[in-house]
Amino acid sequence: MGNKINPLDFCSAATDEIEEAFNTGAITIAVIGTGHIGLLLACNFAQANANVIGVDVNQDIVDRINSGKGPFFELESEELVKNNVARGKLKATKNLSQALDEANVVVISVPTPLDEKREPDLMYITQAAKDVGKQLRRGFMVVIASTVYIGATRNVILPTLERYSGLKVGRDFLLACVPQRIDPGNRIHRLDNTPLNVGGIDEKSTEMAAVLFRRIVEAEVKKVSSAEVAECAKLVENTYRDVNIALVNELSIFLRRLGINVMEVIDACSTKWSFQAHFPGAGVGGPCIPINPHYLLHNASSSELKMVRLAREINDGMPDHVVNMIVKGLQELVPKSPIHKPKVAVLGLTYKKDVEDTRGSPAERVIKELNYLSFEVAVHDPVLPLSTVKFGCQNLPLEEAVKDADCLLFLTDHTAFKKPAFNKFEILVHDPCLLVDTKRIFSPSDFSKTKFHYQSI
Ligand SMILES: NC(=O)c1ccc[n+]([C@@H]2O[C@H](COP(=O)([O-])OP(=O)(O)OC[C@H]3O[C@@H](n4cnc5c(N)ncnc54)[C@H](O)[C@@H]3O)[C@@H](O)[C@H]2O)c1
Repeated sequence: MGNKINPLDFCSAATDEIEEAFNTGAITIAVIGTGHIGLLLACNFAQANANVIGVDVNQDIVDRINSGKGPFFELESEELVKNNVARGKLKATKNLSQALDEANVVVISVPTPLDEKREPDLMYITQAAKDVGKQLRRGFMVVIASTVYIGATRNVILPTLERYSGLKVGRDFLLACVPQRIDPGNRIHRLDNTPLNVGGIDEKSTEMAAVLFRRIVEAEVKKVSSAEVAECAKLVENTYRDVNIALVNELSIFLRRLGINVMEVIDACSTKWSFQAHFPGAGVGGPCIPINPHYLLHNASSSELKMVRLAREINDGMPDHVVNMIVKGLQELVPKSPIHKPKVAVLGLTYKKDVEDTRGSPAERVIKELNYLSFEVAVHDPVLPLSTVKFGCQNLPLEEAVKDADCLLFLTDHTAFKKPAFNKFEILVHDPCLLVDTKRIFSPSDFSKTKFHYQSI
């Protein structure tokens, strides 16, 4: 494919030619991997007048995009997909070769998970780079939107693209790393108003990738000095969150023993301008925070970044801590007549509030442990469809999940949990009933003079 002529040559074009190409609809972007991040990027580029072809190995996702039917992950509305498909600016296919025949930009947004040894698994991105390499033409701009470890763009993706295309970066095509910073479910900090870091393999790659992303991001698109800086910044910002959450998780256990409310302490600390509040919970989940520190550790020796390893250990230990609280709490509540096979209603399975995503959720580990200890487990999550099976449990209606429960365990602070009708639940649960509130949705006083014995972590 290397000899076909690409009418828009990113290697030789000036920035205003790229701007002009957007204005005249001459830019065609193939987004490889149209999941949570890819589809959002695809829609935003289509809104910015690019022609966008989403390429996904999952036929169901391809069909859903082409028919404009959701659910579409982080998108605020399915209208964005429907409208762009209707006006011919967005389509999807499984056929990469066909997509790259039309495109002059490739944005790769495939998953970058951990393998069973908790090491970075670049299987998907390496496969995507091979497939793209086979179809790459002179003048292409390739953007890595996936999160990768430091050096992966230059040392893994670049040689794969060159080897399979027979082309040379800088001379024949450009390559930049633009890690995405979407906070799922956050309607205030969105793709368009969140700054992005752009780091290319060379200066021209950085420049051109910045021009592309300025079309969809109104906030700062910051050009950093290398792909490695962009890769590293993404990993550090999420590791920073992981470390701070670990600190606050440890503090909450320590302060509970001293009879001090960690939330009141965080609130008091927040009056200092330099303090950034983080909150305790049953652990951390999702596709970024529990994974990115392991990507950062990929380049570290075993004696380096001790704090990062410790934070992972603390946060990974939180589900066990929650289960221990339940075991002890139930033993204290009914010391003389131990309940056989007590029932725990697990409320909230997703990894964060109001987001329909269970990837990496601490709920998985909690449920596994409860099952191992022979508890009866019933689950309810208001943002997941009823009857969906997650972590071996069927999502039940709330009343059914809490009926005859000895313990209510709140793992996620969904808006729907804010004002549950406790008077309605009180007749359904056993007396006494332990209530473990890992996200501090309620205050202990909400349960005075009720059957519920409130505990937070
Ligand atoms: N979801 C987030 O909140 C978030 C935020 C910031 C960064 N990221 C990063 O963005 C990247 C993508 O994450 P995501 O959450 O969108 O993943 P996802 O699993 O939702 O979507 C990835 C898509 O890629 C497809 N795919 C896999 N291999 C493919 C291939 N060879 N060709 C075409 N399609 C392929 C899958 O079918 C899937 O639809 C990851 O590196 C992730 O760490 C995610």
